[in-house]
Amino acid sequence: LFSSITGFRVLLGDMGAGKTSLVLRFVKGQFHEYQESTIGAAFFTQVLSLNEATVKFDVWDTAGQERYHSLAPMYYRGAAAAVVVYDITSMDSFQKAKKWVQELQRQGNPKLIMFLVANKADLEEKRRVDNEMGEQYAKENGLSFMETSAKTAQNVNELFYEIAKRVVKA
Ligand code: GTP
Repeated sequence: LFSSITGFRVLLGDMGAGKTSLVLRFVKGQFHEYQESTIGAAFFTQVLSLNEATVKFDVWDTAGQERYHSLAPMYYRGAAAAVVVYDITSMDSFQKAKKWVQELQRQGNPKLIMFLVANKADLEEKRRVDNEMGEQYAKENGLSFMETSAKTAQNVNELFYEIAKRVVKA
């Protein structure tokens, strides 16, 4: 049995949270210390095989800079899943992540599968957002939660695998 499930995934989050780095780690197995800030949005595809299906990931990596905020609905409106990313070393990025969740709850597809991702887990000594804070917020809002590091690859494949599983089930 071979079935292909398409549908867009979208990455949202504050500038510098690590959206591009997460998707590059997943798609190319690469990490760049000096990753350039995304302009507008970038598109990536990757195929992932689950037991029961082959999932084609079409990922829109949106730009986190405030001046691009108004473009975001174009990318999340048709999305099957959204990943809201924050940086564990920045409380500000966590606050921004909550704003994205609220916006998606108000304006996004009601069946949207949402993940809250706490990235840069390798920077434990600079942590400003406790794991429990992210976990608690995710729980209260019905989101899946994961801590990742695009740098060490911690939980990155697991994240995309989880998204694929959730999308297949939906
Ligand atoms: P915008 O495109 O501006 O929205 O940013 P972004 O969310 O796509 O962040 P990006 O992937 O460009 O990463 C920003 C910076 O953080 C880069 O210098 C990355 O190397 C660094 N970075 C990303 N993920 C990690 C991580 O898991 N650990 C560490 N230590 N640094 C990371």
